[in-house]
Amino acid sequence: MLFLRFDPFPVLETERLVLHALTWENSGDIFLLRGNPQAMKYIGKPTLQTLWEAEQLIVAYQENVRDKIGITWGITLKSENTGLVGTIGFHKIDRPNYRAEIGYILHPDQWGKQIMNEAIRKVVDYGFQEMDLHSIEAKINPENSQSAKVLLKNGFEKEAYFKQAFYSEGKFVDTEVYSLITNVEH
Ligand SMILES: CC(C)(COP(=O)(O)OP(=O)(O)OC[C@H]1O[C@@H](n2cnc3c(N)ncnc32)[C@H](O)[C@@H]1OP(=O)(O)O)[C@@H](O)C(=O)NCCC(=O)NCCS
Repeated sequence: MLFLRFDPFPVLETERLVLHALTWENSGDIFLLRGNPQAMKYIGKPTLQTLWEAEQLIVAYQENVRDKIGITWGITLKSENTGLVGTIGFHKIDRPNYRAEIGYILHPDQWGKQIMNEAIRKVVDYGFQEMDLHSIEAKINPENSQSAKVLLKNGFEKEAYFKQAFYSEGKFVDTEVYSLITNVEH
């Protein structure tokens, strides 16, 4: 069984980014992100309508970390004072199987700068080296080519295609599963 330690919260750094815990101070930025229809197009969850919903989401992220069910980092740029520009995390951790599901979202103002590429690389390394995961999966809408590209750049392989496997806003949509297996010795 996977043994997880998220206390203290693991702050991660890359060349351009700081990945940090989400707190109430991030509520406004989470609202701008998860309330943005363009960013939410393929997420399959309702676009936020109120700041209160953003605060509730942050509480849920904090509870997940406390209960070691999942971990989500806020993404902040080192060089610009833009506040939080995205989130990334393992939103489901399958401890008996040393496997986790990765998910991420970036504000459209920041798309196309390889920001999520840099964040995924760091979080994947953390997952394999520090959390001792054996494999990481990503479930995406097959129309989300931007997300597929970022996964392929990071060595993920397309493993499965499930027809109408996901119910979102009154429709059943197809799901692609990408995965990456560690080369770290356990
Ligand atoms: C998927 C996502 C995280 C990619 O992040 P990113 O930092 O922009 O990634 P990249 O800079 O590597 O760009 C990836 C691809 O997106 C496309 N792209 C870049 N900028 C774009 C823009 N402004 N508009 C449309 N597509 C764009 C390009 O095809 C690019 O591929 P390329 O670099 O090989 O040309 C981001 O688009 C996003 O947050 N989307 C909404 C949330 C989402 O769908 N999350 C995944 C759910 S599984």
